[in-house]
Amino acid sequence: MGLKKCYVFEVFLIGLLLFSIQELEAHNYAAGKPKFFNVVNYGAIPDGMTDNSKAFLKAWNDACEWKGRGRVYVPKGTFKLGEVLFLGPCEGHTAFIIKGILKASTDMSSLYGDSWINFRYVDRLTVGGGGSLDGQGAIAWPRNDCKNNPNCQSLPTTMKLDFITNSKVHNLRSIDSKNSHFTLFGCSKMNITNIRISAPGDSPNTDGIKIGSSDRIDIRNSIIGTGDDCISILSGSKNLYISNVVCGPGHGISIGSLGKYKDEEDVMGITVKNCTFKNTTDGVRIKTWAAPSMGNAYNIYYEDIFMDGVENPIIIDQEYCPVSPCNQQESSRIQISYVTFKNIWGSSKSASAVTLRCSKRKPCKNIVLDNINLMSSPDVGQLFSSCFHVHGFSYGNQSPYSCL
Ligand SMILES: *[C@@H]1O[C@H](CO)[C@@H](O)[C@H](O)[C@H]1NC(C)=O
Ligand SMILES: *[C@@H]1O[C@H](CO)[C@@H](O)[C@H](O)[C@H]1NC(C)=O
Ligand SMILES: *[C@@H]1O[C@H](CO)[C@@H](O)[C@H](O)[C@H]1NC(C)=O
Repeated sequence: MGLKKCYVFEVFLIGLLLFSIQELEAHNYAAGKPKFFNVVNYGAIPDGMTDNSKAFLKAWNDACEWKGRGRVYVPKGTFKLGEVLFLGPCEGHTAFIIKGILKASTDMSSLYGDSWINFRYVDRLTVGGGGSLDGQGAIAWPRNDCKNNPNCQSLPTTMKLDFITNSKVHNLRSIDSKNSHFTLFGCSKMNITNIRISAPGDSPNTDGIKIGSSDRIDIRNSIIGTGDDCISILSGSKNLYISNVVCGPGHGISIGSLGKYKDEEDVMGITVKNCTFKNTTDGVRIKTWAAPSMGNAYNIYYEDIFMDGVENPIIIDQEYCPVSPCNQQESSRIQISYVTFKNIWGSSKSASAVTLRCSKRKPCKNIVLDNINLMSSPDVGQLFSSCFHVHGFSYGNQSPYSCL
């Protein structure tokens, strides 16, 4: 063998070796035995009273440092837990398996804050296990004065996921959050499935799943009943796919509100399919403030949606003003375009079943109503649709009669 040939062969061998090592590691990650880090072995006590934050954090740190499939394991029982930050990045594929009930604090000192359980900077995280998160919200709701106080102190979100990628959250229950149940920020490629969310219909700001600045989020097969939006889609949300969700009570699946802050990112590529709204104030909604911030919301698709006694089944509101007075001399500069409402049927609890109230400055473009079959709930007069500054088309059945 010549020197050159020998060298080439060597490089080939080294390449093969490196490739095999990589294969082996990938194999270990995917098929290797998971390593369990049971919180009880770190001193957690499931008596519903002891604060277990330290034990949980230690278990997380060990699982996160495990170069394979590290799993924090929370067995059956009621574990009281304070505010915790589960910080990545982790070495392997980390999972957080909750079989029992995690119970938030009701201490006055820990009433306010950003989040109760916060996962941050983790790739390939799994959170699940069939257990519950009890936010103990009833003690906090009377202290929520955000409706009248613009500088109100924030109450904690039950589970906040910041910068989480290639991950899934499934088989979990969230009850009585103090603020939102789940919040996603800066996340991408996540699957959220088989989640049950519940809080009373009149609990303040208890959004079900709130999403901002996130891409490729899939939400399926979930049941959400709460006091605010079932799903709230905020600026920077892109490529969301929401299907088989039952919402109610609550304020529906909402895009927005948009346009309140400067330099908001666009919202685009939102699909909502095969969902049911039961006794909600709104069904499918897009809301923007009549404020000077610019932006766009486009490529939005709603299909196969059943409305069961919904006050505003279909609504675009570009003069959103939850608590008047709002500064409505302005008109919204958020451009809404390419929005399709297809196969939407059921009952409306108000006569105004379809409302497309767009901005005078930025009229809505390419809005499509395709096969709308809404009837009035008992004691509601004849349904109507109303259009302001909208360009679009309607196809198929239109009940109420289309204003487009
Ligand atoms: C999410 O679901 C899709 C399709 O069901 C699947 O291809 C993808 O691998 C899943 N992602 C994660 C992180 O589980
Ligand atoms: C509808 O929701 C309201 C407010 O949450 C509640 O008071 C009412 O009992 C609900 N009605 C039905 C039929 O579920
Ligand atoms: C539509 O969603 C319901 C649950 O809300 C589910 O039972 C049904 O299988 C779904 N249909 C399709 C075609 O996915």
